[in-house]
Amino acid sequence: MTQPQANQAQAELWNGQAGRNWVEQNALLDRLLEPLVPPLVEAVRRQGARDVLDVGCGAGATTFAVADALAGQGRCTGLDLSVPLIDLARRRAAEIGADNAEFVAADAQLHAFPPARFDAVISRFGVMFFDDPVAAFAKLRRAARPDAGLACVVWRGIEDNPFMTAAERAAAPLLPEPPPRAPDAPGQFAFADRQRVSGILTAAGWREVDLQPLDIACEMPADDLATYAVRMGPVSLALPTLEPDRRDAVIEAVRRGFEPFVSDGVARFTAACWMMTGRA
Ligand SMILES: C[S@@+](CC[C@H](N)C(=O)[O-])C[C@H]1O[C@@H](n2cnc3c(N)ncnc32)[C@H](O)[C@@H]1O
Repeated sequence: MTQPQANQAQAELWNGQAGRNWVEQNALLDRLLEPLVPPLVEAVRRQGARDVLDVGCGAGATTFAVADALAGQGRCTGLDLSVPLIDLARRRAAEIGADNAEFVAADAQLHAFPPARFDAVISRFGVMFFDDPVAAFAKLRRAARPDAGLACVVWRGIEDNPFMTAAERAAAPLLPEPPPRAPDAPGQFAFADRQRVSGILTAAGWREVDLQPLDIACEMPADDLATYAVRMGPVSLALPTLEPDRRDAVIEAVRRGFEPFVSDGVARFTAACWMMTGRA
């Protein structure tokens, strides 16, 4: 019997509907998640890194920010298993002339990295999707030079991030019951458990592993909320399967679900994250 390919479900998702949604909503998402860029650029600066790997880089917002900070001194390589997102990142690099940002379409858990190539490994929300996180982080460690720094931002728990699950909570009574969320399964909240994540990094050979809470204020114009609510996350994936009446009811329920976050025309929330650091 042939073994299923690692990360197959995530590869299908990010090369399918989720990838398309992230491409189409790229401008909105970049604005929304921009406040999480400076802590990663700062981590690279502190390490004095010159050759940086950005894991699960998506359309490249963090790759471009790091490349810009290293202009004339170094480069940043963004790697992602989503071909549509890497295609977009490459188009953006050409448009802005970011010649020290390069992009690789590959699975970080499976890719044949040159050994000891990078002097820093970073990620904004791109490392929670591995079938085998120990294997993936061991691979990243081997791609890092001795003493290279690791700095990744990952989500803390669902209970700390009510904005992120507002749509699915509001839509739940109108949708078929989803399979129960396995807390450690690959996905947005897979790295919520500090002890578990610390164990994964240590088992993968990273030293000086540390997870510190990082709470970042984020906002978006309330006018963007309708698009965000129906194009991102699990509800967006369920909507195309619904009859028009049910679909409209879900969209209205989701709109109401976000109301508590809106004031003065702006939706505000705190991104409750870990800044996860280590050393190769
Ligand atoms: C939540 S998005 C974050 C994208 C980007 N870092 C950002 O902040 O805009 C997660 C990204 O991780 C990528 N990803 C998931 N599993 C991956 C893997 N095994 N190897 C490389 N990239 C992966 C997805 O394709 C997606 O682009």
